[in-house]
Amino acid sequence: MVRIEKLDMVSAAKNSDSLVNLLQDSVKNGASVSFLSPLSDSAAEAYWREVFAEINSAQIIVWAAFDDENNLVGSVQLAPAKMQNAKHRAMVQKLMVISNHRREGIGNALMDTLELEAKNLEKKLLILDTRVGDPSETLYDKKGYIKFGTVPGYALNSSNDFDDMAFYFKII
Ligand SMILES: CC(C)(COP(=O)(O)OP(=O)(O)OC[C@H]1O[C@@H](n2cnc3c(N)ncnc32)[C@H](O)[C@@H]1OP(=O)(O)O)[C@@H](O)C(=O)NCCC(=O)NCCS
Repeated sequence: MVRIEKLDMVSAAKNSDSLVNLLQDSVKNGASVSFLSPLSDSAAEAYWREVFAEINSAQIIVWAAFDDENNLVGSVQLAPAKMQNAKHRAMVQKLMVISNHRREGIGNALMDTLELEAKNLEKKLLILDTRVGDPSETLYDKKGYIKFGTVPGYALNSSNDFDDMAFYFKII
């Protein structure tokens, strides 16, 4: 049974090593999550430090999923838009599940938690992007996200090629 927890500064910092490991595991296994393999400890730590600062300044909401033994096995982020005309909008970012716990419903559970909170915050529109052809496309399709386009060669990958990215929205 997975437990999902919203992270504050303290719990995020406490789980810093596991979050670094989660990001490195995703990158190592070929995910398109902003970083290239091999992802050094220092680069991953620096990334999470920035995220922790954003949690602290309420710019972002981060959830972590924990297994029965309290191991951190997944994470997702909701980044509400900042501008005056965008208060109803938020970005979904960095949905990641550790590779040895995939296809157990953790990604789905993280997205359900995120969407519930987004609704409570009176967000009406969620936006996300993901690499064309990745398993995440199936997950987002299943959860009712609408693909509104793809951009060719949007993101560099670890083989020094460019990947196409699909952009999705969901009205909640
Ligand atoms: C995408 C990701 C988060 C999915 O997490 P997960 O916990 O394995 O997903 P779930 O078990 O909740 O799967 C939910 C549904 O998504 C679809 N799905 C997930 N992984 C899939 C796969 N490898 N192949 C086909 N469909 C898949 C299935 O429809 C699945 O339902 P089912 O298992 O009942 O058939 C995970 O593969 C991951 O961390 N990938 C690397 C990071 C990444 O690319 N993130 C997306 C960034 S936008």
